[in-house]
Amino acid sequence: MSAPLLEVTRVNKSFPGTHALKDVSFELLPGEVHALMGENGAGKSTLMHIISGVYAPDSGDVRIDGRPVALRDTRQAQDLGIGMVFQELSLAPGLSIAENVFPNRAPTRLGGTIDWRSLYRQTRVLLAQFDLEVDPRTLVRDLNVTTRQIVEIVKALSLNARILLLDEPTSALPPTEVEHLFDVLRRLKARGIGIVYISHRIPEVMAIADRLTVLRDGQRVGTHAVAEVTPDRIIEQMVGRKITDLYPPRADQLGAELLRVERLTRDKTFADISFTLHRGEIIGIAGLMGARRSDLLRALVGVDRVQSGSIIIEGRRVHLTSPEQAFALGMAYLPEERKTDGLFLKLPLRQNISVTALRDFSRFGLMNPRREAAVSQTFVEKLHIRTPGVQQIVGRLSGGNQQKVMLSKWLVRQPKILVIDEPTKGVDVGAKVEIHALLRELARQGAGVIFVSSEFPEIIGLADRILIMVEGRLVGEVPAAQATEQQLMLLSSGYHVQESVAGV
Ligand SMILES: Nc1ncnc2c1ncn2[C@@H]1O[C@H](COP(=O)(O)OP(=O)(O)OP(=O)(O)O)[C@@H](O)[C@H]1O
Ligand SMILES: [Mg+2]
Repeated sequence: MSAPLLEVTRVNKSFPGTHALKDVSFELLPGEVHALMGENGAGKSTLMHIISGVYAPDSGDVRIDGRPVALRDTRQAQDLGIGMVFQELSLAPGLSIAENVFPNRAPTRLGGTIDWRSLYRQTRVLLAQFDLEVDPRTLVRDLNVTTRQIVEIVKALSLNARILLLDEPTSALPPTEVEHLFDVLRRLKARGIGIVYISHRIPEVMAIADRLTVLRDGQRVGTHAVAEVTPDRIIEQMVGRKITDLYPPRADQLGAELLRVERLTRDKTFADISFTLHRGEIIGIAGLMGARRSDLLRALVGVDRVQSGSIIIEGRRVHLTSPEQAFALGMAYLPEERKTDGLFLKLPLRQNISVTALRDFSRFGLMNPRREAAVSQTFVEKLHIRTPGVQQIVGRLSGGNQQKVMLSKWLVRQPKILVIDEPTKGVDVGAKVEIHALLRELARQGAGVIFVSSEFPEIIGLADRILIMVEGRLVGEVPAAQATEQQLMLLSSGYHVQESVAGV
């Protein structure tokens, strides 16, 4: 057996109020994909931050090729061959793809000026590994979340890393892109590169990892060969209990029509979208990259304008020009990118949850902090948000726990129509179950929910009805109770049922 590339021995790390890593040991072999799993707040990202030089451990040591290293910063970690894709996207939105991929490392010509042609060519080659035909000069701010995620990975690969740390690289990727990523990872493996792979998606881990380590409450509870462990066992180790029902029962009856969308069209984005949503109903929208699902959601809640078509809420035609206006009509919208769009990262959890419901918490225009704290506390408990308290600054919570805060912020307002992009992106299995139950509860109380998810099993499990989008058009609708993953994949690829029948 070959010597480990990376060895972490009995590492400890504390933050105020949290002992994030307790005596954690971890090892990575050359050519190995080693998955790191655990609930939100278990310590996964903290461990990656120590390996990549972001944080220094309080005690314990890190060895690379058997030699102890004291990493002072990320630059030094990079020089030692450690490439990292952070959980929160870290690209500079105002710079081009190429400039992001090669920061400070752009190829230069004699005399030191940047060789732009070579820079663009090299970037294009890297992007081509993902079949991404986007101009390297495109500004990152003009890319959708999926493409940004891919650029982030491309950037880490461009460092010629020998150790690659991927913190939830697929949380924004649809299934086809996940396959691309896996192809690339397999090629890297074959070159002897060691990869640490953090994910909450158990099927992905089973597909790509050789070994997996489970963290719980900052402690390592086990390391297993993937071939010798079952998904049930992994879940049990992560959450410390058995989880039986992943999805709540569907609606047994629907109420009145809440929302009617007729021939909604936005130039160059989507066209002719028509559907209805009823009280008590959850609609899932399935599709692949480029399907324009998020664009549709944005238009539904007034973030983006439409050129034609109508939105009718409870029989009244509305002209939405802003999300605030949609909100006043009882619509709540959770965007996919929580960091930039959804949360006040510098404010405490308590205020983040209450901010959309100010009226409910204030009497005579004054905030009622006691009630605000009590309501926040309820959500902390309901969703098991891991935090020292409701006063904690949201930016200091783990990624998945930030997602839970964002969801709480809207659930507390009890919207009539909840429009939500990737409801469980980045949350652990236990919290997923709780979020699904909360959404179903909201529907049972008479709300309607429309969500987009890149995970077909989640769409099938959570929705009552599934709409399928391909390149800006609705191409099909299936009752979720009868849907299969394979069917959704076929429909999402633009392969129509009639064609498939005709083709047999
Ligand atoms: N900079 C920080 N300041 C204070 N607490 C922190 C900081 N970074 C992490 N923590 C805390 O340390 C614990 C571990 O967080 P970490 O981000 O490692 O979790 P994680 O396993 O990556 O979770 P997730 O799946 O949600 O991303 C959490 O309780 C978190 O709130
Ligand atoms: Mg994390």
